[in-house]
Amino acid sequence: MTTLGTPLSPHATKVMLLGSGELGKEVLIALQRLGVETIAVDRYENAPGQQVAHHARTITMSDPAQLKALIETERPHLVVPEIEAIATPMLEELEAAGTVRVIPTARAARLTMDREGIRVLAAETLGLPTSPYKFCNSLEELQAAIDGGIGYPCIVKPVMSSSGKGQSKIDGPADVKKAWDYAMAGGRVSHGRVIVEGFIDFDYEITQLTVRSVGADGQIETHFCDPIGHVQVSGDYVESWQPHPMHPAALEKSRQIAKAVTDNLGGQGLFGVELFVKGENVWFSEVSPRPHDTGLVTLCTQHQSEFELHARAILGLPVDTSLRNPGASAVIYGGVEAQGIVFDGVEEALRVPGTDLRLFGKPESFVKRRMGVALARAQNVDTARANAKLAASKVRPRVA
Ligand SMILES: Nc1ncnc2c1ncn2[C@@H]1O[C@H](COP(=O)(O)OP(=O)(O)OP(=O)(O)O)[C@@H](O)[C@H]1O
Ligand SMILES: [Mg+2]
Repeated sequence: MTTLGTPLSPHATKVMLLGSGELGKEVLIALQRLGVETIAVDRYENAPGQQVAHHARTITMSDPAQLKALIETERPHLVVPEIEAIATPMLEELEAAGTVRVIPTARAARLTMDREGIRVLAAETLGLPTSPYKFCNSLEELQAAIDGGIGYPCIVKPVMSSSGKGQSKIDGPADVKKAWDYAMAGGRVSHGRVIVEGFIDFDYEITQLTVRSVGADGQIETHFCDPIGHVQVSGDYVESWQPHPMHPAALEKSRQIAKAVTDNLGGQGLFGVELFVKGENVWFSEVSPRPHDTGLVTLCTQHQSEFELHARAILGLPVDTSLRNPGASAVIYGGVEAQGIVFDGVEEALRVPGTDLRLFGKPESFVKRRMGVALARAQNVDTARANAKLAASKVRPRVA
């Protein structure tokens, strides 16, 4: 049974978000609405989520000592990782000592913090279909992996990276060195380790949002949202929509895969399972044990957005994953490199029927930094996609 307290009182229910970007900000707002006391942690000051939380803390989350000291000082009931670059072995230690509960589990946070843990679990432990892959520590190993069976075309990604950073496609022998060098420059921690994956020529890709929450009988139940379709450019999401129409057999397989992975990762919360689909074939790609960027669309499509679902699930509350109406999201990039930018065209954007905007409030803009998102609900996905893209195109970030 869940009892919630009063924030800023001795009986507060305290939740700490590790990472306070645009996704964390929405989780924090959902928690605030339930009267939870929130602590937003990030590596820089005035991160989006820090602007809406009760408390803001700035630390290096990949430093185990800083992470431990902060959790021991703040004593949150729950720690909710929102990013991958966290000292997850320390979270496992604190969880094992009973100091804190990690969402969904500290082990899930560790396994998904790099591509290796989750890929080995999915493909080798669980036997799920994935692209053929190999891990390599040098250019020579990469070439040998390709020649030894991965073949062309293939994709090289740093083991530690997200949003497509350091990732590139290799079409033939001439591209191999370039892809290696690019991966070395783009990885989060320069481990010098990459995954090379055979290229899957999929028809489309989806995110299967999956929620593990507590049912009326106290047992964990698995709930599925309608599939989210999306378009990625250079490994970064630019557009998403819901529902994505699917062959019933492919949908069934997608949910079996999502269930197998999330059952193994365990705990409570929402997961974003990324899948490639071709005809009735489905491949597992990766999973976020937290809200997914393509799931921003659920802010305008579901009765409970992925952020509200996550907040409810982690607190042990009931969830409703049903769709309200079709909709779409389109990303707004910074386009400029500057601090404290301004946005022209917001009113034109919001004149597009059925639209809404999220401007994340990031203190600094980069050309390819996601600064906001346009949302559109409509009678059908095609109209929603067109309107979301139109609204996004009306918003013009510029140097103040
Ligand atoms: N083996 C593959 N075959 C075909 N396309 C792929 C393959 N691996 C990745 N992609 C494409 O690149 C995109 C990004 O890949 P992936 O999700 O592994 O990277 P990422 O850096 O974790 O991205 P994000 O953090 O945005 O999820 C995928 O959504 C897909 O469009
Ligand atoms: Mg991905």
